[in-house]
Amino acid sequence: MTTRRNVLTRSAAALGAASTGLFLPELARAQSDKVRVGFMLPYTGTYAQLGVSIEKGFLMALNEQGGKLGGKEVEFFKVDDESNPAKGVENANLLVQRDKVDVLVGTVHSGVQMGIHKVARESGVLSLIPNAGVQVATRAQCAPNVYRTSFSNSQPTLALGKAMMDRGHKKAVWITWNYSAGAEALEGFEAGYTAAGGTIIEKLAVPFPSVEFQALLTQIAALKPDAVACFFAGGGAAKFLRDFHAAGLSKTIQLYGSGFLTEGVLEAAGPAAEGVLTTMHYSDSLDTPRNKKFRLDYVKAFKAQPDVYSVQGYDAGQLLVIGANAVKGDLSNKSALYAAMNGVTIDSPRGKWTMSAAHNPIQDMYLREVVKGENKVIGIAGKAVADSGAGCRMG
Ligand code: PHB
Repeated sequence: MTTRRNVLTRSAAALGAASTGLFLPELARAQSDKVRVGFMLPYTGTYAQLGVSIEKGFLMALNEQGGKLGGKEVEFFKVDDESNPAKGVENANLLVQRDKVDVLVGTVHSGVQMGIHKVARESGVLSLIPNAGVQVATRAQCAPNVYRTSFSNSQPTLALGKAMMDRGHKKAVWITWNYSAGAEALEGFEAGYTAAGGTIIEKLAVPFPSVEFQALLTQIAALKPDAVACFFAGGGAAKFLRDFHAAGLSKTIQLYGSGFLTEGVLEAAGPAAEGVLTTMHYSDSLDTPRNKKFRLDYVKAFKAQPDVYSVQGYDAGQLLVIGANAVKGDLSNKSALYAAMNGVTIDSPRGKWTMSAAHNPIQDMYLREVVKGENKVIGIAGKAVADSGAGCRMG
């Protein structure tokens, strides 16, 4: 079983090499004959909970294989990326160069992902993206060794505008954090909403990870839109829901968002989240045997409720299991590894999805409403939604 107890930060061999001042990473790898998995995730800050969910989901997929990958033992290495883009390259190199991981699993924040992406493209190490939606990673900078099991940033918001127009909400204010994930979520929202006939009357942003929403909420009250649409996630999302409600805006203005707004935060947000409408590729309440079993097993293993991040981490694990089994745990056998993972269909708790040619999920989007503290599915917002993959040429 893969438990938290054998999640190490350094292998014994690497520690020995470090203490004698020698640099023997190749030797360490040869001796261990284990698959070396590196987690680069946020374990602190506004996205901490997201990182924890991803790790748990990933471990669950491996536990279903007796904790092995392609028959080999697994050794884990961890770095807290703090959702800090400035340290993205440095942190990725701790795993790739220092710890010599065979596969890097990370991360949540799009800016930090760009650091991982640079290291992955230069080193050729297998990179599994369990959340960050930064579009270029599966568009112009797509790479044979980089696979995403989550979404591209514009995917969840593409279908939001139509749902809003169906409810007669023709004038909207958009609000988000001022970084690439927010900008790309807006790209999807704007395309879908304007195509459906809606008008964005104002676009607002606060710096990441600020939760000082008051001035902008006052501005929204004065603008009197039919609706507000947003991208927020993690601790900041819970705060935004509470502030929006406390400012009295939920009485007259319908709040919408990509589903991250209401993932893993419903307890923290309390009544403030009731009635919020979101689009997302997963919902707790999906009434399928696959999802029910996943949720039951997860609760048993971790005494915690899974969310979309757990599912994305789990699917990264499932993808790696498929690849590792095909090469009997030898992840250096790249051509066979990629052949097994390319175009794969993943039997996910979210529903089956397929890996696109640019290595991003083609997946259904659900329309969800928060009812009595739960994300209830109230419709399908989009079938087999694919990212454009624009400019992707696999080298
Ligand atoms: C991102 O930075 O790409 C990101 C972060 C949190 C989310 C979704 C996307 O929930």
